[in-house]
Amino acid sequence: MPETISLTVNGNRITVPSGATVAVAMMSASAPCRVSVSGKPRGPLCGMGICFECRAVIDGVPHRRTCQILCEPGMDVCTQ
Ligand code: FES
Repeated sequence: MPETISLTVNGNRITVPSGATVAVAMMSASAPCRVSVSGKPRGPLCGMGICFECRAVIDGVPHRRTCQILCEPGMDVCTQ
């Protein structure tokens, strides 16, 4: 298993430690997971799959809970 993984967050290439969640990758890229209906940036709250505040688009699939998904090489993550 590689020690680091490279992926794209909102078009920016970043590297995270192997085993990091997508939520961690988005926070390290200073990217909100989603934007609320009032336009406010939102991010992880519970970190354990309950609150759904961390939803983002992963490889074109919306509403993925980033706190529950590990980063994979070449993954494309976007703020929802
Ligand atoms: S942070 Fe609550 S579901 Fe992901």
